[in-house]
Amino acid sequence: MSAQDEIKRLTAPDIRARKGGEPIVSLTSYHAHTARLVDRYCDLILVGDSLGMVMHGLETTVPVTLDMMILQGLAVMRGSKRALVVIDMPFGSYEASKEQAFLNAARVMKETGCGAIKVEGGRRMAETIAFLVERGVPVMGHVGLTPQSINAIGSFRAQGRDEADWPPIEDDARAVTDAGAFSVVIEAVAEPLARRITANVAIPTIGIGGSVACDGQVLVLEDMLGLSPRVPKFVKRYGDLGPSIEAAIAGYAADVRARAFPGAEHVYPMRKKGK
Ligand code: KIV
Repeated sequence: MSAQDEIKRLTAPDIRARKGGEPIVSLTSYHAHTARLVDRYCDLILVGDSLGMVMHGLETTVPVTLDMMILQGLAVMRGSKRALVVIDMPFGSYEASKEQAFLNAARVMKETGCGAIKVEGGRRMAETIAFLVERGVPVMGHVGLTPQSINAIGSFRAQGRDEADWPPIEDDARAVTDAGAFSVVIEAVAEPLARRITANVAIPTIGIGGSVACDGQVLVLEDMLGLSPRVPKFVKRYGDLGPSIEAAIAGYAADVRARAFPGAEHVYPMRKKGK
């Protein structure tokens, strides 16, 4: 490969520069093989803490640990080469103090090589985001529905469906922007509010249950592939892999029981004499 052919990863400043431009395409990934596929089409790969639910069958993202994020983040870095990889900071790894946030974010970046981290929360995280950004950690914000707060908010309900509820969510998006985040996820908020925030903040908004007006979109890969048993309203299913995976497993089980697998082509013959 010549130096000119060399493929460079997108960076947080590249994504930041896309405000108001071509939509930013993003999906989650937690494994090397899916990262390889996602990388071909996406600008940004999010190693989300939704991996707790998707990979580990947890009820919420609350029990997810920093070690889980680092392990899957490493796999995604190995599988991808072009997209910006953003790794979620899990619950309990950044809220106690800005120093705690920096030490853990630095660990994630050093041990995975990812290009940025994501934290949930608006105004309450602004000081921490500014502290991280000043110290070389690119930060993606996350406002609207923040699933790590599920035990405090009580349900995964959409936010801002009454206009009276808009100001705090708008203030959150503004605070994250002013603190220096390079982009912000807007999750499960009323469409006109997501549109309005997008028009009013200077950084790209990445919608998930937001608005088509957002500067980009993100979905959980397994949700859009039809592998998740239950999905929120904002998920469009682009595939239905569950039945084809089940058919493959059923075919394998039937072949093994019928001694039809392995066939002659799948076993090793003895070496021919003299070779
Ligand atoms: O963890 C995750 O997958 C996320 C997306 C929902 C944005 O944070």
